[in-house]
Amino acid sequence: MKPEIKLYDKTFVPSIPYASLCAAIDAVADKINTDFCGCSKPPVLLCILNGSIMFTAELMKRLNFLCELACLKVASYEGTHSTGKVHQVTGFTGNIKGKDVIIIEDIIDSGRTIESLVDIVKNEGANSIRICTMLFKPSAYKKDIRIDYAAMNIPDDFIVGFGLDYNDLGRNYKDIYVLKEESK
Ligand code: IMP
Ligand code: MG
Repeated sequence: MKPEIKLYDKTFVPSIPYASLCAAIDAVADKINTDFCGCSKPPVLLCILNGSIMFTAELMKRLNFLCELACLKVASYEGTHSTGKVHQVTGFTGNIKGKDVIIIEDIIDSGRTIESLVDIVKNEGANSIRICTMLFKPSAYKKDIRIDYAAMNIPDDFIVGFGLDYNDLGRNYKDIYVLKEESK
C-alpha cells in the first residue's frame, strides 16, 4: 500500500488492505452460495455504478450458481458528504422484471441510497430483492431495511479505493484508504 495518497485537497492513509477485502468477500460469497445453491431460476446481480464495479467483479467470480448481471447508476454523494438526494443517472442495462434481484452496493452509509434503490427495483417489477454490500457503516445507518449480506462493517469514516471515490478520483486503488485526520 502507498503510505498516503492525495486526491485534490485531501490526503488519505492506508486503512483496509486488499488481502483483507478478499477474505471478507470469500466469506460473503460463501453465504450467498449457500442461500442460492439449487435456486430454480437465475437471480440477477444488480451492480450499482460506479462504486460497485470492483466489488461486483470480485464477488461474481466466487459465485457458483447460474446468475445474470445488470447495472444501474445512481448518485447521491458530492465530495465527502451525501447530498441527501438520490437520483437515477441511467436505466437498467438488463431486464429485472419478475426476477430475483441481489443489489450489489459498494458501501451503505446513512442508508438513503439503498432505500431509494429498493423502491426503484420494486417499481421495475422485481420478484424479490436482497441486498449485498461490501462495506457497511452501522453507526451511520438510519434506516430499517435489512442488509442481507455485508462483507465488512467499518466505522463512520470517509474512505476511498476499491471502487470508492472522492469526487470521482481514487476508485482505481485496490486497497482502501481513509481520510487523514488533519485533512477533514
Ligand atoms: P448513503 O446513501 O448515505 O447510504 O451513501 C451510500 C453511497 O454514498 C455509496 O453508494 C457511495 O457512493 C457513497 N459513500 C458513502 N460513504 C462513502 C465513503 O466513505 N467513501 C466514498 N463514497 C461513500
Ligand atoms: Mg460515490
